[in-house]
Amino acid sequence: MSGAHSDALVFFGATGDLAYKKIFPSLQAMVKRGTLDVPVIGVARAGWTLEQLQARARDSLEKHGGIDEAAFAKFCSLLRYVDGDYADPATFAALRRELGAARRPAHYLAIPPVLFGSVVEKLAQSGCTSGARVVVEKPFGTDLASARALNRILFSCFDESSIFRIDHYLGKRPVHNMLFVRFANTLLESFWNRSHVESVQVTMAEDFGVQGRGAFYDQTGTIRDVVQNHLFQVLANLAMEPPVRTDSESVRDEKVKVLKAVDPIQAGDLVRGQFRGYRDEPGVAKDSQVETFAALRLHVNSWRWSGVPFYIRAGKSLPVTCTEVLVRLRHPPTVFPTAIRAANYMRFRISPEVEGAFGLTVMDREDKLVGQPAELLAHRSAAAGEMEAYERVLTDAMEGDATLFAREDYVEEAWRIVDPVLKSGTPVYAYEPGTWGPAEVAAVTPPGGWANPVVDA
Ligand code: BG6
Repeated sequence: MSGAHSDALVFFGATGDLAYKKIFPSLQAMVKRGTLDVPVIGVARAGWTLEQLQARARDSLEKHGGIDEAAFAKFCSLLRYVDGDYADPATFAALRRELGAARRPAHYLAIPPVLFGSVVEKLAQSGCTSGARVVVEKPFGTDLASARALNRILFSCFDESSIFRIDHYLGKRPVHNMLFVRFANTLLESFWNRSHVESVQVTMAEDFGVQGRGAFYDQTGTIRDVVQNHLFQVLANLAMEPPVRTDSESVRDEKVKVLKAVDPIQAGDLVRGQFRGYRDEPGVAKDSQVETFAALRLHVNSWRWSGVPFYIRAGKSLPVTCTEVLVRLRHPPTVFPTAIRAANYMRFRISPEVEGAFGLTVMDREDKLVGQPAELLAHRSAAAGEMEAYERVLTDAMEGDATLFAREDYVEEAWRIVDPVLKSGTPVYAYEPGTWGPAEVAAVTPPGGWANPVVDA
C-alpha cells in the first residue's frame, strides 16, 4: 500500500561496505531521476566529518557506476552526517536535530542485525520514530527464532505497513518482470500447471568465491545467503496464483500461500557442497562445515503444482555467473517412432542478461525424423538508465510501496522450510572450484538432469 512520500532518508552504516558498493550509486541515480529530493542523513561511528563522507561517496561512485557531476552536486547538497556510537543517546539527539522539520523519515538500517535492537530503541526514545518507516537489510535472522526476535524488536516501534525488509532480488527488473510476463500472456498460462509441467529448476551460479566476506559467509552459508530469500522469491514468482488485485498486500498474500504449501526440506532432498580452498579463506574456520553450494528439491503442494518437483541449486566458485529458471514440459505421446527427448521447455534467464526461450524439438537436418533441439529466443541487455535493484527498492520504500519487500509471514514461512534441515547438520561434500558442485548432487537431480547455463564469454 502506498502512503505519503518519506520526507528524509536516514541511513545507518553510512561508512560501511554496502553503502560504498550499492547505496551511494543508488542515491545518485535517484537524485538524477528526480525521485530523491529530501535530506539524506548518513549515520556511522567512524569519527568522520561530512566532508569525509562526501569524499567517500565520490570514491564509491567512481568505482561503482560513475559520477554524474550535476546529480552528485545535488546529492551532496542533500547529504548530512551524524557521527556517533549507536549505543549513545547523544547520537540520536543529534539525528533528531538534523531531521529538523522532517515528520516522515525513512530509517534505513544498513547495519548488522545485532545492532537493530539498540538502534530501534534509541530512535524511539529520541522521538525519531513517529510517522517514520524502517528499512532493513538482509539477512533477516539466521533461523525462525531469530527472525521472530527481530520482528518483535521492529514491532515495538513500527507496524508492519511501516517495515520494509529488503530482498534486493525483488528489485531486479527481470524478477519483477517474471510476474508480469506470467500474467500478461495466455500462452504461458495454458501450460503453467501440473498437467503440462514435468519439473522446474532454478540455478543461481556464481563463478567467484566469498570475495573477502569469509567471516560473514562462514556464519551464513548458501542456503541462508541466497536460497531462503532470493531464490524462494523467484520460486514464489514462478508458482504463485494471480493476485486478485495489484496492491502490495494482495501480491504478497499470493507469495505467502506458495511457501505455506511447501513442507520443510528433508535431509534426503538436500545436497550441500563446499569448494576446495574455502577453508583457507580469511575468516573461515579450518574445519568449517558451512556450504558454499546447495541443491535441493521441494514440492509446492497446491492444486496447480501437486506432484511437480521444484529444484533449486546455488553456489559459489561454479563455472559461470548466471541465474536461470528452466521449466521442463511433459513429453507428448510419440508420433515419430525415433523422436528423441531433445527439448521441450521454457527457459527464463534473470542474469547476466535477460532471456526468455522456448526449447523445441524440430526435424533434424538429415530428415530422419529423430529430431534435434532448437530454441526460440528473446534476448535483451539492460537498457541505458534502467534502474538497478537497490535504486528500485529504496525508491519504493521512500514511496511506501511494500510490494517488493518481504512481509513478516513470508520471512517466517521461508525459515520454517529450511530451518530443520539446516540444524540437522547434513554432510557437506567437497567440490573443485569451477565445477557444478560435488558428485553427490546426483541424489538431487531433476528428471532429465540439471541444465547448466551456458554464458557467452
Ligand atoms: C547477496 C549475497 O545477497 O546476493 C551474495 O549475499 C550474492 O553472496 C549476491 O553474491 C548476488 O546478488 P547479485 O545482485 O550480485 O546477483
